[in-house]
Order: sequence, then C-alpha cells, then structure tokens
Amino acid sequence: MYYSPAVYEFFIQRMHSSERYEHISRLVGERTVLELGCGTGILQDKLERTKSYMGIDLNEKFVEHGRRNGRNVRLMDINSYDPKEEDGWEVVVLIDVLHHLPYYEKLLGRLLRSGKEVVVCEPFHSLPGFLTPFLFIVDSDGINDIRKVRWHKKESLLEFVREMGAHEVVLLNDSVIAVFNKKNGGRGHSGKKVDCVRGKKLSY
Ligand SMILES: C[S@@+](CC[C@H](N)C(=O)[O-])C[C@H]1O[C@@H](n2cnc3c(N)ncnc32)[C@H](O)[C@@H]1O
Repeated sequence: MYYSPAVYEFFIQRMHSSERYEHISRLVGERTVLELGCGTGILQDKLERTKSYMGIDLNEKFVEHGRRNGRNVRLMDINSYDPKEEDGWEVVVLIDVLHHLPYYEKLLGRLLRSGKEVVVCEPFHSLPGFLTPFLFIVDSDGINDIRKVRWHKKESLLEFVREMGAHEVVLLNDSVIAVFNKKNGGRGHSGKKVDCVRGKKLSY
C-alpha cells in the first residue's frame, strides 16, 4: 500500500468514511494546521476553513504525489519537528500515524508541552490474536521497524487517550478522535502500561 500513492489513496478513501475528515475540519475551524505523517496530504482537500495547511511525511512518492495535486506537503521526519508555541501552527494533527511510530508517547508529550493543541485520529483493531501479524504486514510503511510499532484495541486506545489527558474523545466507526491541549489538562503519558499488540519479527 505504501509503494503506490494512487493505490494508497484508493484504499484509504474506501476504508474510512468521510465523517472523520468532516469532524476534524469542524474541530480545526479556521486555525492553521500542521499534519505529521500526512501521507499524500489528502487532509488539505478536506479542511474547509483553515487559514493554512502544511503536511510532512517521509515517503518520497507520497510527498511527490501530494505536490503534483497542489498540496502543501514536505519531505521531513516527524521526529525532527521541534514544536514551538510561536512557530505559527495552531493545531497539530496526526491521522492513522501513532501505530506507525515506536515512541509516540514521547512525541505527544513534546507537542503538549509546547502548548500546541493536538488532534489524534487513531484506528483500533478488533482482530483475533492469530490474525494480528497480517496487520503489521499490510500496514508496514517501509520507514519504521514493525517490531516496535503498536496497535490498540478499542478499550486500550480509549484508556490510552484518557491517560494522556484528552479533553474531548469521539468514537467514529473504527477510530478514536481525541483532542489534547495543556490548557485543558493534556499532560502526556504517565508511564502507566496500556495493553496493545506489538509487531513481531516477521520473515517476509
Ligand atoms: C497510515 S499513513 C497516514 C497518512 C495520512 N495521515 C492519512 O490520513 O492519509 C501513515 C504515514 O506516516 C508516515 N510516517 C511514518 N513514520 C514517519 C516519520 N518518522 N516521519 C514522517 N512520516 C512518517 C508514513 O510514511 C505514512 O505516510
């Protein structure tokens, strides 16, 4: 899926309803948006009122495709983004990205300490244990080590976002959309262990 931007967009638009984008667009309103792990930058087309959008991603083909479609997307590693309150981005959005990142608690903690509002849209899985290796194969982005990434089930994802201090949580089909900011108690992760499946070393 991550080798072809056209295939990725075809599947992603069918896998998730348009409600998630509509909800995020309402949450963001006119504010400026930085999307981390933007893929091809589809979100830019869906935000109705934002004053400004930029997306960053490490997949070259995705970024090229996004640019060809007139989207403001750049090739950059999420981990090298240094959030500062005054950097101009009012809301940081992460859609379907946490389960790609080995150390996402640290990233969220950094974002929240900078005073940014953070919107996380994260899918959960409901597969029986013996099928979870397929999740990691199908969803391997070619960037992150699949042995270190984690997928949540619904309950553990809800527990995780509450632990992090989300002040607004919405359940939409197969995803949770959570809003965090320091002002409303967003605090980063307390270190409490939340149950989730971890990728295993797979020979493929
Ligand atoms: C499931 S896709 C989500 C794309 C987009 N947010 C969307 O909703 O269509 C996850 C994206 O995270 C990107 N990604 C993973 N690790 C990254 C990193 N360290 N820096 C930048 N992008 C990363 C992948 O390249 C992939 O495009």
